[in-house]
This record gives sequence, structure tokens and C-alpha cells, in this order.
Amino acid sequence: MPRLCLSSVLLLAAFAGLVGPTATAQLPTETRAEKEARLRWWTEARFGMFIHWGLYAQAARHEWVKKHERLTDEQYQPYFDHFEPDLYDPRAWARMARQAGMKYAVITAKHHEGFCLFDSRFTDYKATNTPIRRDLLREWVDAFRAEGLRVGFYYSLLDWHHPHYTVDRNHPQSAQSAADYDRLNQGRDMAIYRQYLRDQVRELLTGYGKIDIIWLDYSFPSGAHGKGRQDWDSENLLAMVRELQPGIIVNDRLDLLDVEGGWDFRSPEQFKPREWVTMNGVRVPWETCQTFSGSWGYYRDEMTWKDPKQLLVLLIETVSKGGNLLLNVGPTARGTFDQRAQDRLQAIGQWMAVNSRSIYGCTAAPDEFPVPEQSLLTFDPDTRRLYVHLLDWPMGQLVMPGYAGKVQYAQLLHDASEVKISTSRTTIWMSEAAKEGDLVLTLPMVKPEVEIPVVELFLQ
Ligand code: GLC
Repeated sequence: MPRLCLSSVLLLAAFAGLVGPTATAQLPTETRAEKEARLRWWTEARFGMFIHWGLYAQAARHEWVKKHERLTDEQYQPYFDHFEPDLYDPRAWARMARQAGMKYAVITAKHHEGFCLFDSRFTDYKATNTPIRRDLLREWVDAFRAEGLRVGFYYSLLDWHHPHYTVDRNHPQSAQSAADYDRLNQGRDMAIYRQYLRDQVRELLTGYGKIDIIWLDYSFPSGAHGKGRQDWDSENLLAMVRELQPGIIVNDRLDLLDVEGGWDFRSPEQFKPREWVTMNGVRVPWETCQTFSGSWGYYRDEMTWKDPKQLLVLLIETVSKGGNLLLNVGPTARGTFDQRAQDRLQAIGQWMAVNSRSIYGCTAAPDEFPVPEQSLLTFDPDTRRLYVHLLDWPMGQLVMPGYAGKVQYAQLLHDASEVKISTSRTTIWMSEAAKEGDLVLTLPMVKPEVEIPVVELFLQ
């Protein structure tokens, strides 16, 4: 019998349909209008909470700690053995999210470390086997839904615990040479992991009711020792996702950017795009995900927390460019939100309580409305109201270039107090005729007690 090397056996078997990648399933097609309708609740919501919670909360020094410090499974094990978030009260989390003005939330069912917050049938590496012994995810879903928020799961495609996940350049045991990778990956069979990943995504999308969003994170196909669509079998995985949860909104990290229906929105991470995100020149739905302080998981000693004003600017600016903001909290291993996170959520909520009209259902202003000095504009296309967010309080008057004749009424949004509009500016010593087309808003000299005051313009 001629000797065949393993790869030719596999090739022959693949031809015979015995092993190898199954045929690629068809992704459902939809028109642009259908997609817009499917995403409508999400684009109107504009603001959601990301939650990164896992064993790394206990290390409290980045969710990538296992990789950063090249920890072995054994070295990481204490975090599993001691995981007992006894103060976990997802209803309190949900309340804080709602009070901050968030309309949806996405939680890490599993992050790169491989630990599952849910009671998976396919692994022992899960919350129910730690001292807390609870399906933390189920409680989370129930609590967030009860608070009126839409729910989403983040599921890591990477897995630093599964014995068949092959070592790649992002793995804690990443190597120096191709030969080292070969040695490390002997006995690892990515096909087994691929099945595991598929089984778990199925579990998540069948066992917890209607799931509004799924974040499959992430691909790194370029360069050596990366992973991409073949490794995850992305198209078939996504076809299954769409079949199990037809309305679900899917992020863009499956390495299917060039595939029709391969993603629903772009996800610039910790990055403020300069303008509405486009693909091939067309504006697309987008969501920027951002942290309070840099890392996603709880990081005790990180001192680079953004202040409330920065966070509000982030939200407003995102909406002013037609995007969503997914703002992350990394809860502690006791199951609480750190005081710094609570303070910021509260400050955002205080602003949203009286200003959310400039956020929900809003988008970029039409081009005919230039952005006045030191401000950000959002626009509600249904009510035809324009919102001027004043980042730096002006001295009494604000000139709106080119707005004359376009505004019927103006008020401060937080207290509905009238803002006088006119087309000239006069003082005792000098009268400055406004330039043709200018509109002048007369504002109180003292900045109201609102972090970023908003003027609501009722357009003609
Ligand atoms: C990256 C990081 C990860 C974080 C995510 C959020 O992919 O690996 O830690 O969960 O981005 O977008």
C-alpha cells in the first residue's frame, strides 16, 4: 500500500465529504431598509453598558493578565478556586445601568481566559463549579430584562483554557518560532475547539430566551500565528446564530467584513472616529466601546479614570456622528461596581435625566446646520429638533452661523426655559449687525448647574 502523508489523507477525505470544513451555509440576505428596521431599537437607544466580568476581576490587573504575565493554567487556578462574588446583585447593576440612561447591556459570558459565567454542559470551567456555585449569567439576564434593558452576550472566540485551542501569538504560551508552535500544538486539535465554541454559542442562544445582541470577539488573521474565519468557521457559526435568533444584532469581529451579511455594525474600540463610520463610502451603523480607565476587567490600581464631562462628551460626540456608545464597567470579584464606576454612572444619569432627549433617537445633524463654536450638535429626525450641546459656556450670546430663518423657538433643554433668538447684537457702545444668515441666542450669563447644557432648537 502506498504511504500517504496525513495531509493527503485529509484532503482525500475532504473530497469524499468525510471530514474537513462543511459546506458554507447561506447567510440570510436582507435589504438596507430591512436591516435598518432590524437595528432600529438599537440605533435609537444609542447608549449601552458593556460588562467585563470573570476570574480576572480577582487578579484585578487587567483581563489579559493571563497573557500579559504568561501565567500557566496552574498559576491561574487560584482565581477559579477562590471566585466567590458574594455581593453579586445583578438587579443593582441593572438599576445603575438604567439610571445612567443605558438601554441595553452586553456581558462577557466567556472572555479570553475561557471561564464561563454560565452553567455550560460542555465544560467544568464555569461559575457553578466555583465557590459561588451559581449560574451568574442567568441571574444577570433576568435582572436586566426586568429593569427593561435589552440583553446581549459577549463570547470570546479566543480561549486560553481549552486544551484543544491551538497556541497562537495572543495565547499566554505564545512561542518564538514556528518550530516551537508546532511542538506546543502537538496533540491540540482546533476542530474539537471549533465544535466546543459552536456548542456553547448554541447553548447561549437557546437557553436564555431572546438575546438581542451577540459580540463574538475576535479575529486576528493577518501575520503569523493568528486566527480568522477558518479557525472559527465563521460563516457557519454566524448562520447558526441568525437561525437561532433571527433578530439578533451581531458585531464585526468574525473576520467577515467582506461578506454580505457578515456583520451588523462596526465596533471602533477605545477610539473616537472623526466622522460617521463608512464602508466603501457608505455610512454604516457603528458603536464605539469604551472603558472608564483603560482596561476592561476590574483593575484596582489603574488611576487613569475619565471624568464625567469627558464621558458625556464621548456620548454626545458619538451620537453627533450617528453612532452608539457601549460604556464598560468591570465589576469587582465581590460582585460590586467599584465606587469610581458608580460615581461616573451617577453623574451621567444626572445629566441624562433631563437631557436624554438630545440622545435617544438622535443622530448627526443635516449638513445645512454648521456646528457653532465649542459645541456638538445632535438632531432628532422625527421631531425635527436640533440640539446644541455647549461644551464651554459662552458669555451671554452664541452666534449660530447660517441659522437665521430656520429656527422657530429655542429653549434650554434641562428646564425648558426660553432662549431668546434674534438676528442682531447690540450693546450701548457698539452694535454689531449679525452677518447675513446669523442667528443669535441670548443665554444667561451664569452657566446652569448642568455639566453640559443643551439648547433645544425647534426648527421651522
Ligand atoms: C479586545 C480585547 C478585550 C476586550 C474587547 C472589547 O478584543 O481583547 O479584552 O474584551 O476588545 O472590545
